[in-house]
Amino acid sequence: MMKIVLLGPPGAGKGTLAALLKDSLTIEHISTGDILREEIKNETDLGMQAKAYIEKGELVPDELVTKLVENKLSSVNNFMLDGFPRTRHQAEDLDKILKRLNKLIDYVVYMDAREDLIVKRLSGRRICKNCGAVYHIVNRPPKQNGICDVCSSKDLYQRADDNEETVKNRLGVYFENTLPIVYYYDSQGVLLKVDGNKESEQLSEQLLSIFNEG
Ligand code: AP5
Repeated sequence: MMKIVLLGPPGAGKGTLAALLKDSLTIEHISTGDILREEIKNETDLGMQAKAYIEKGELVPDELVTKLVENKLSSVNNFMLDGFPRTRHQAEDLDKILKRLNKLIDYVVYMDAREDLIVKRLSGRRICKNCGAVYHIVNRPPKQNGICDVCSSKDLYQRADDNEETVKNRLGVYFENTLPIVYYYDSQGVLLKVDGNKESEQLSEQLLSIFNEG
């Protein structure tokens, strides 16, 4: 059983690392960003409420996101939370939810990365509209230009919040609201810091060997 939280700034590589770890661990990848984008695509009530916040790089209100995570967590044993919690309030709510479900976090993986790398990574990110696979035009291009390696779709798109102005706002929001919860988890003794500037494959191997020693 493995219960993991991935914490780090936008563009640190959380989603990319999660995709690699998922290949080796039988684990549910729960990305609040991905879920919210799916809700927007399907034009649900939640999606309509979240859209304006996401487009500006602001946080979606805690109660909307927490409800969504609570529903997901009640049906899984192994999970990797990506993008949640993002505020002290969400972190405290997560503790309460897990207590109710009789579950404990094993590791909070905190990955930091240099700001210049983050901006380059986000401006070059491309995502497959069909299956969600994540690429980078320079760092991790698909094998065939413009074609998804996983599902062969030709629809690779750039996220609306990956423009320079919104990225700056997302970073500001991260430093103000999310960075403080690193200390919250450090004080609980579950924090595992890794270097997000490194190659994702290297990080995945490093983490798998720590989890295996466990
Ligand atoms: P979300 O989707 O969670 O975005 P984020 O946290 O800003 O993270 P990203 O997805 O941008 O980055 P990542 O670290 O996953 O990087 P990736 O692996 O893709 O949230 C979006 C929005 O939703 C928020 O702004 C907010 O509005 C809302 N939201 C979500 N959760 C919420 C919550 N809990 N509360 C309130 N609101 C919430 O990599 C980026 C690029 O770099 C890719 O192109 C990749 O190929 C490349 N790359 C990755 N790793 C490496 C590496 N090691 N070396 C070289 N290139 C790399």
